[in-house]
Amino acid sequence: MPRIAVISDIHGNMAALDAVLEDLADQRPDEVLVGGDLVGRGPEGSAVVRRIVELGWPTVRGNHEDYLLAFRRREVPDEWLRDPEWSASRWMAAELGADDVGFIDSLPFTFTSRLAPELRLVHGTPNSNREGIGPWSSERRMAEHLASIAEPLLVCAHTHRPLHRELPDGTVVNVGSVGLPFNGDRRAQYAIFEPRRAREGAPVEGWSVELRQVGYDLEATLRIYERSGFLERGGITARLLRIELEKASPVLVPFMTWAEARGVAPAPEALDRFFEDFEPGQPLAPFFDRLRNG
Ligand SMILES: [Fe+2]
Ligand SMILES: [Fe+2]
Repeated sequence: MPRIAVISDIHGNMAALDAVLEDLADQRPDEVLVGGDLVGRGPEGSAVVRRIVELGWPTVRGNHEDYLLAFRRREVPDEWLRDPEWSASRWMAAELGADDVGFIDSLPFTFTSRLAPELRLVHGTPNSNREGIGPWSSERRMAEHLASIAEPLLVCAHTHRPLHRELPDGTVVNVGSVGLPFNGDRRAQYAIFEPRRAREGAPVEGWSVELRQVGYDLEATLRIYERSGFLERGGITARLLRIELEKASPVLVPFMTWAEARGVAPAPEALDRFFEDFEPGQPLAPFFDRLRNG
């Protein structure tokens, strides 16, 4: 039976990727697939792209590939090319080499595993690489996603939160994030799949799914934030991304939403006030509700 590993959402974090590559060398899967978001939200996008190209592993296109390509081509609103809160994206887009850009632009939206064609890989959902499946997603919604594809196993990422659901018509797995987990566990995350069959050649009856966590040298990545100039030149966004990495939970979107709701400029000076209102790791839905209701 083939064993298939899926890694995703590396987000320019080489130390995390290297730790997963070492774990994969022990696990020796028959195939490795990559779920996108190699770049964005981290300073080593180019190094990650080059490593994945070298490995030759099939890769789908994440929303951060789309996003940095748009910055590279200046196909973004004018203020994104100008305002300080977008300086991290400008830095990450500029950090990519011409070959990296060509590679990420060639990536397909979805494919199935070569060894187990019952496994369909997407970045977010079968409809979009910008919407995600997370612990908050209803089983009805997950069943709709499964119904929209021909395969019984839907593998996705994007929300940076690992998840495994067995539904009447199939299985949904989110493999989490190698480089920037959001579930409070800083370790690099990925998953290994193995089809279950009564005998060789018989139809797949189900999947054994192993969600793995691999510790890595987070301090090394934090040092790259400094050494590469990302922290200094990436403005408020780079600072918030660094906090996300340390806390393994979302901070950037809560901050931007908070700043807009409070009518405050999204600048470093606002951080102290923000952290009086927001504790990283707290449930997001009530926080956003509170902002909406004043
Ligand atoms: Fe991501
Ligand atoms: Fe994503």
